[in-house]
Amino acid sequence: MKVSRVAAAGLLAAASLYSMLPAAGSPAPAAGSSSPDRPLRELAGRQLMIGTAVDHAAYTADATYRDRIRTEFNSITAENVMKWEVVEPERGKLDFSAADELMAAAKRNGQQVRGHTLVWHNQLPAWLTQGVESGEIDATELRSILRGHIIDEVSHFRGRIYQWDVANEVVDDNGQLRDSIWLRELGPGYIADAFRWAHQADPRAKLFLNDYNVEGISAKSDAYHALAKDLLRQRVPVHGFGAQGHYGVQYGFHSASEVAANLGRFEQLGLETAITEVDVRMIMPTDNVKLQAQAQGYSVLLQGCLLARRCNSFTVWGFTDKYSWVPGWFEGEGAANLLDENFAPKPAYRELQAVLTLSH
Ligand code: XIL
Repeated sequence: MKVSRVAAAGLLAAASLYSMLPAAGSPAPAAGSSSPDRPLRELAGRQLMIGTAVDHAAYTADATYRDRIRTEFNSITAENVMKWEVVEPERGKLDFSAADELMAAAKRNGQQVRGHTLVWHNQLPAWLTQGVESGEIDATELRSILRGHIIDEVSHFRGRIYQWDVANEVVDDNGQLRDSIWLRELGPGYIADAFRWAHQADPRAKLFLNDYNVEGISAKSDAYHALAKDLLRQRVPVHGFGAQGHYGVQYGFHSASEVAANLGRFEQLGLETAITEVDVRMIMPTDNVKLQAQAQGYSVLLQGCLLARRCNSFTVWGFTDKYSWVPGWFEGEGAANLLDENFAPKPAYRELQAVLTLSH
């Protein structure tokens, strides 16, 4: 493992050279002696968990989608079905059925599972947000509801989740704690509480802070560094820092070495790191230049992870443009994934193969 991390330093130049070679749409040459169609999980070997978010509805309906998840990835994240609005749509009625189906599939496929997510400002059940808004749920009750939610959910999956995104997107882009019902009602201590409750329910799971716009060094990632340091000083069981990796080709990317340096400073605090939700969107329609830029976006994140010493999982937020959250959330944008709508590899997929091959 250490050896391959060191070898990874040498791949930076090679991989960026490689990325200049194939024009999008043309068959990419295999890197080294690898076949161009060796699946990512095979190329990743034992050095890295390589994951995807899974859309439960697509998983149920589409055999090609199911197959590809099985062959390409050794880790999965539920894209939505572990979120609070799905697991407790009515107060007190827990429903883990969809999540359990994905857990069972992961077991059959020899895949590990990242848990996503326990405390977040989005995708909360209406009974909760409306109850707080109307004043029916006061701060004391809200705290006990959050505690119950975390303990119930983490206990349900105890021993079967290797990394939990405990606190998701709790810092805003200016580096302040995000204004949310949690911060407003409970104060900043809710973050430490969430980690403590999760740890109590599953002492073996690695517990993560997770956010977007924290891949490089910025006011936001600085704020996370300070937050992580503060939590660790209070002996809060936080074990990892996850950078989501939602990029857009029109904004440019960090360099791999900046990503590695940023992850490295969290590792110096004693944390593991992960890249948790990679997609690289573009303004539609696609063209070869954008697709090539997209490959570079995926590449710097994977290389950054490989160059860091304790970045142990790299997860894409969906792998085919057939099922992607991007067009529904970013008007006029799309094509953010590794495979196109017909599951054909895009340059980004070839790039990840090449980087993984070179990293051995
Ligand atoms: C997104 C899902 O992909 C969508 O299907 C859903 O409608 C909204 O949430 N950051 C996160 C993820 O942590 O949970 C989000 O997932 C994408 C942004």
